[in-house]
Amino acid sequence: MPALAPPATQHPAKVEPLRVCVTGAAGQIAYSLIINIANGTVFGPEQPVILQLLDIAPALEAMKGVEMELYDCALPLLAGIVLTTDPLEAFRDVDYAILLGAMPRRAGMLRKDLLKANVGIFQVQGAAIDAVAKKTVKVVVVGNPANTNALVCSHYAPSIPKANFSALTRLDENRAKSMVAVRAGVAVDQVKNVIIWGNHSNTQYPDVAHAHITRDGARVAVEEAIKDEAYLHGEFIKAVALRGAAIIAARKLSSAMSAAKAVVDHVRDWHFGTRSGEFVSMAVVTDAHAAAAYGIPEDLCFSLPLSIKEDGHYEVVAGLPVSDFARGKLDATVAELEEEKAEAFAHIEYLAAVKKAEEEAKTAHANGDAAPVAEVSA
Ligand SMILES: NC(=O)c1ccc[n+]([C@@H]2O[C@H](COP(=O)([O-])OP(=O)(O)OC[C@H]3O[C@@H](n4cnc5c(N)ncnc54)[C@H](O)[C@@H]3O)[C@@H](O)[C@H]2O)c1
Repeated sequence: MPALAPPATQHPAKVEPLRVCVTGAAGQIAYSLIINIANGTVFGPEQPVILQLLDIAPALEAMKGVEMELYDCALPLLAGIVLTTDPLEAFRDVDYAILLGAMPRRAGMLRKDLLKANVGIFQVQGAAIDAVAKKTVKVVVVGNPANTNALVCSHYAPSIPKANFSALTRLDENRAKSMVAVRAGVAVDQVKNVIIWGNHSNTQYPDVAHAHITRDGARVAVEEAIKDEAYLHGEFIKAVALRGAAIIAARKLSSAMSAAKAVVDHVRDWHFGTRSGEFVSMAVVTDAHAAAAYGIPEDLCFSLPLSIKEDGHYEVVAGLPVSDFARGKLDATVAELEEEKAEAFAHIEYLAAVKKAEEEAKTAHANGDAAPVAEVSA
């Protein structure tokens, strides 16, 4: 008699599970993303995962609903679920940390206000990652303002290499590629090497000067295929940068399905690498190499074209010619990121001063002294 085949869910090769933390796990992007992590779309069909899900206490019940649904999906690759409201538990031993959790931008809220509301979250989470995550952890920040939040996170996790922190600009890249595909009349996977430079904001520069399409088996530069410089330097850039606002206007909610798909693309390419000759855009913490390649100051989280090796190490694609038009765009997005960085760290200092003043007042109160007047200005 032939031996019985092992049950379908038994993996022949024992693969160690990857631990993946998702913050904001009760939110809308998480709802589209988590299933793709747990079903093999991100890390492949042989790779088990343990999901470590973090949200704040008021969202705990909703997160429990997500957990129930994960069980109900009966996913063979899902090796465990941790649900928590404690960053130190959520980031423990993780290989990947996907930071979606943030306060959303409300009507009438300025970008500056959003930055102030969220910078503290990424300071705390950076410190927790530093304390308990694997030293090889790869971090993807999605919560806005994503670039500056990622920079803050990296500063508070000094034991993790700066190269392991990134912010998501893949959604902008995917939007740009789709618009090019429609305009050139090709399938979207025939569009390669569109670059998003700079900030995930209105100052980003979606750049097709180095991109190409494949049509009828032949490679054609996008500028040649579209032959409309006024569009590519005007309406196209605006449409990509304002796409998020257009989706909010239509859905009354920010993009979630497409944001989750972009996170899948970002993490999968970081895990498996990019194909030879192709590059992708990720916002990464700039070093001397980026500075030398494109005149971007060091220590900003800036979206750049990257080629990624199979082991996850990436290199900034250097040597692409930068036109005067492109230089102007790059300088504008650098200026915005420098301003955000200054505001973020000034606000962190302010928060620290407020905390110190409050602690001093408490101590004075406990000692029966008159409470000192806190001299902290915003
Ligand atoms: N970079 C991009 O391309 C891009 C695209 C779309 C959305 N976003 C941003 O992604 C973020 C998430 O979007 P969403 O639609 O899922 O929002 P959402 O409001 O549906 O969910 C956010 C979740 O984060 C949680 N949260 C808040 N503070 C937290 C904290 N300190 N720790 C853990 N969790 C916390 C909330 O409770 C909520 O469950 C937003 O900041 C949004 O602006 C970025």
